[in-house]
Order: sequence, then structure tokens, then C-alpha cells
Amino acid sequence: MRIGFFQFSPFHGNKEKNIEIIINILKRGKADLIVFPELATSGYLIPDKNFLRKNAFKVPDSKEFEMLLKVVKKEKTGIVLGFPELKDGKFFNSALFILPDGKFGVYRKIHLFYKEKKFFKSGKNPDEGIFTYIGFKFGIIICFDWLFPEHLRYLAYKGIQVVLHPSNLILPWGQRAMIIRAIENRVFTLTANRVGEEKYRNEHLKFTGKSQLVSPDGRILMRANSGSEVLRIKEINPAEANRKLITPYNDIFEDLKTVQFKYSEGKTY
Ligand code: ACM
Repeated sequence: MRIGFFQFSPFHGNKEKNIEIIINILKRGKADLIVFPELATSGYLIPDKNFLRKNAFKVPDSKEFEMLLKVVKKEKTGIVLGFPELKDGKFFNSALFILPDGKFGVYRKIHLFYKEKKFFKSGKNPDEGIFTYIGFKFGIIICFDWLFPEHLRYLAYKGIQVVLHPSNLILPWGQRAMIIRAIENRVFTLTANRVGEEKYRNEHLKFTGKSQLVSPDGRILMRANSGSEVLRIKEINPAEANRKLITPYNDIFEDLKTVQFKYSEGKTY
């Protein structure tokens, strides 16, 4: 299958413009699935709830969803897209997936980062981001979820072959950590990160780019640079993620032991 990411710098607080950009990429993409960054329709810094009221949308009852669904069906290109979601009067930092057959779903970010906690409710259900497409199994995490190996291990136990990772990475470790997450779970990971900077009052955030696709043996199959807008697409076979052996004797799931480590008497670490 042909899978890719679009790395860009969304216009802050301009949902219409960002959706126009996203739709144009879908038209140009020639891929089975394109992943866009976290909060790609709004930008990242949330000055106040009013910003969210203006920029969030509902799924499926919104014109934004209708527009995206239409183009996904027409272009036969699936989408995974970060956006601020309005659901039951609450805001979530969410990722929407839409597939060419019209199937869709929303994953709500579980591990909120920094001041996201002031504005978003956290998601509760990692299964929301799981879907099957062209015979393969995908799972979504959003940005800071990378820090929690348990989250990705859970997806791997569920048989996910490709972890999709819309991001607005700021800390310097996310891309490196996702290589380890790929190796330790023997899955593909695709991080669609954003570039650019945002400023608001005394807040100044710089996003690190370097969107990447990593194979189950930790090879970087493609990676963008840290500063520019780019669409990258590559052919992969997600079935490569089915092989959980590191050596003929070591299966990453079978070998996990629950052990009690004994520390030297009287010492705490
Ligand atoms: C992040 O979770 N946006 C760093």
C-alpha cells in the first residue's frame, strides 16, 4: 500500500484555509492513506475557549466533515487528520480517520501535553483509533502519547501493524523514541509532524518537523527535514509487522516475563 505524510505549518486559527490546503493535498496525493499533523485544521496554541469555539468541529455533523468525506471518496485516498473536536459540549484534541468506502472514526488524545490540559478533556479509549483498511490493521496515537510505551504495546497486542502518529512535537525526543517504539513492538510507525513557530503572550513554541516512516526493524524509510512543508509517500507491506521474532528463539510477546527485581538490601533507587 502507498502511505504518506504531509508536513506543514497550519495557519493559526484559520480552519477554512487549512482545510483547503488539506483537500488540495488529498487531490494531489496518489496514495492509499495520507496522515496530517495534530491540530492541523487550527494550529496548536490555544489562547482561550473562544478560539476553540471558532475552530473546533463535530464529527459527523459538520460541513468540515462533509467536505473531507466527499474528497476522500472521490480521490480514493484515506485520511488521518488532527483537529479540535467538539463533542457533547466538550473539546477534545482528536484525530479523525476517513476511508474511501465512507467508514470513519475519531481517536481522542489520551495523554495531554502541557497546557492542553487547560482546554481539552482527555480521551479514555485507545481502541477508538483502531481501524482495518485494505486488509491491514492501523492504530492512531497523537503526539505526546509517544512517551507511553504501554500505549503502543497495547496497540501491538491488538494486532496493529502500522501506528499512525499525527504530531506537533516540541520536545527533542519524539522522533527518536518512535524508532524504539517500532523496534520494541515490531510495527511500522508513521509520524506526521508539523513545522513552524507559534507565539502567544510569553509562550513561544517551535515545532520540530522531521516527519518520518519507520519499519518494524527500526529503519527510517523516509524522513522530512526540520523546517519545510513536504508531502512524502512510500509503498510498504504492513504484513512485515506480523513477524514478532527478533531471533528464531525470541518472540517479543512470548518472551515478556513478569519478574520481581531484588535490590541490594537497605538501598533504595
Ligand atoms: C504534543 O503532545 N503536542 C507535544
